[in-house]
Amino acid sequence: MTFQSVLSNKMALALVVLGILVMAAAAAGNFNKDFDITWGDGRAKMLNNGQLLTLSMDKTSGSGFRSKKQYLFGKIDMQLKLVPGNSAGTITAYYLSSLGSAHDEIDFEFLGNLSGDPYILHTNVFTQGKGNREQQFFLWFDPTKDFHTYSILWNPQSIIFSVDGTPIREFENLESKGIAFPKSQAMWIYSSLWHADGWATRGGLVKTDWTQAPFTASYRGFNDAQACIWSSGSSSCSSSSSSSSSSGNNSWLSQSLDAMGQQRIKWVQKNYMIYNYCTDTKRFPQGLAPECSP
Ligand SMILES: *[C@@H]1O[C@H](CO)[C@@H](O)[C@H](O)[C@H]1NC(C)=O
Ligand SMILES: *[C@@H]1O[C@H](CO)[C@@H](O)[C@H](O)[C@H]1NC(C)=O
Repeated sequence: MTFQSVLSNKMALALVVLGILVMAAAAAGNFNKDFDITWGDGRAKMLNNGQLLTLSMDKTSGSGFRSKKQYLFGKIDMQLKLVPGNSAGTITAYYLSSLGSAHDEIDFEFLGNLSGDPYILHTNVFTQGKGNREQQFFLWFDPTKDFHTYSILWNPQSIIFSVDGTPIREFENLESKGIAFPKSQAMWIYSSLWHADGWATRGGLVKTDWTQAPFTASYRGFNDAQACIWSSGSSSCSSSSSSSSSSGNNSWLSQSLDAMGQQRIKWVQKNYMIYNYCTDTKRFPQGLAPECSP
């Protein structure tokens, strides 16, 4: 062995060890470290040494939090347990957004309901300030009984929304057809619990029952090990101490839906989708969005 290969082996080993340490730290996931409570005057709380976060809402106010860091691409997982019981008129929003008039945004919103009636999972994608891309779903489980994982895979090829690992929606990069795709504005992770009984539940027919307040949603299991952190104009995924060495594996950056994923998404869309902007010719009489035509 040459001196140089011994040296590079040692360096590789050191990097692996460093990687394991970084992964262990990241896997622990800590809301104190990764998020700031941004509003709600004490209604948002970090509990269990930062392992759990709760948002609550009463007649006076809702509450919310935001990530400390900005991200430009990531596979971002969060476990949520939604407001139980009568949650009519409440919205729990969990989303990525850049700021400004030409912002990009990737949304999950959970529209509450009367006890025993189904939540609606509302999704949307904004590119350069333009949204109007709603798709809505019922879930195949009660999202208030347990924590479930809601994921956004955002890479240069596509955005994939998943629930417990099942993909429910894909927004592909179709820049080749002149459709804008979010790929140059870093985003924060946001969440809020707020009051919208003007439209949330059965289009606004069912109002919030304030005798049930406070309403509380819970969060856990966040970690940003599989994300590119954007800071001072550069990405952790392109620097020399990149996450490709620290977390070993950047396969999510080029991941797309495999055949199994395509099948799952079809299953969800056939059985659980209740609204699709791509078929709403009444709302868009001048024509559906270009990404809607195959
Ligand atoms: C609430 O339940 C009603 C009745 O099942 C249903 O029509 C509605 O879509 C459900 N979800 C919301 C958010 O309104
Ligand atoms: C990278 O991660 C993916 C998904 O997490 C996994 O399937 C794959 O086996 C990993 N590859 C390597 C080289 O570790």
